[in-house]
Amino acid sequence: MTAHDVNTIADAVARKYWHAVAFESQLASGPVALSLLGEPIVVARLDDNVLATYDRCPHRSSPLSTGEIRVDPSGTECLVCPYHALHFDVDGRPTHLPARPDERLAERLSLITLPAQVSHGMVWVSLAEQPIGGIPDWSTYDDTANVSFQLGPEPWAAMPTRIVENFNDLGHFATVHANTFGVGEGAEFAVVPTVQIEPHDVDGATIGLDHGVTMHQLDRVTLDGPLVPILADFDYRHVFPFVTELRITYGPDRVEWIQVAFTPTTSLASATPATLVFQQNVRNFDLDGDVPAWHDFQAEVNAEDRRLLESIEPDMIGVDGTDAHEASLGFDDVTVEYRRLWRSAIAAERA
Ligand SMILES: [Fe+2]
Repeated sequence: MTAHDVNTIADAVARKYWHAVAFESQLASGPVALSLLGEPIVVARLDDNVLATYDRCPHRSSPLSTGEIRVDPSGTECLVCPYHALHFDVDGRPTHLPARPDERLAERLSLITLPAQVSHGMVWVSLAEQPIGGIPDWSTYDDTANVSFQLGPEPWAAMPTRIVENFNDLGHFATVHANTFGVGEGAEFAVVPTVQIEPHDVDGATIGLDHGVTMHQLDRVTLDGPLVPILADFDYRHVFPFVTELRITYGPDRVEWIQVAFTPTTSLASATPATLVFQQNVRNFDLDGDVPAWHDFQAEVNAEDRRLLESIEPDMIGVDGTDAHEASLGFDDVTVEYRRLWRSAIAAERA
């Protein structure tokens, strides 16, 4: 199979999982539109629930995301089509048509709703009726003992799989992040130790990878922070296919969590793949510290990764490494394992 064929099957795989589509806070200002694997969708909070559906009205196909949220005559919040003001409730049922208030609204006017869940600051949606895999437990984000910020959603012109591999990669700190937290090439502290990897299994199925190392980084969370190396524990929990939480332990009472979700907006087989990057940073120290400076530091770290990833030819390889004109190195164990997860998911999809 060519890389393009593999990535077309990978689309079918990815459709079965949960994806981050918005920060919960985005829903406060009305419906949110985005593409998920090339499908235009809309997400809206109606009363205390979330409606997710394809972004077109079953009547005349206008994008519901350009409509508004209103209260229908029965007192419940509805998503209202911008064209003829057809009202839809949270279950996707048409409930009201102002131009013909007495008209019986046919079943065929119902929306196809998508599974949607709000969890720890994020909204998750699947294109499958019965999603597999998991929504990550990012409970540290809303623990009031911690301080946090959100970054994104930011569109990157890169494959989500490349971004996952980058986020789970320890070998690029000294080079790509030399100006932020990397200790610098050639420094005795820059050597990457062997990674311990554990498949993260639920009900006998591997739904992710846990891996960790202890290594040096610079002890700073602001761009003007000190250039002092510190030994920290890096513990990653990757949830297949596009989600990871990194817990960095700088000391007994100094823990930072970096929670990332990379959502493919295009098909994975697109020649110009695009990904929305969602990120939440949380820490249990420096509670009165300068959060905007910490945010700016993280934004610069991400910009370093983004520049590098967007410079890679996008359509060279399959998500599982097919057609890779690439050789792996000793510290690539996690990437190799990640590509293996893709290979088995693609094989299962073809079977
Ligand atoms: Fe990086």
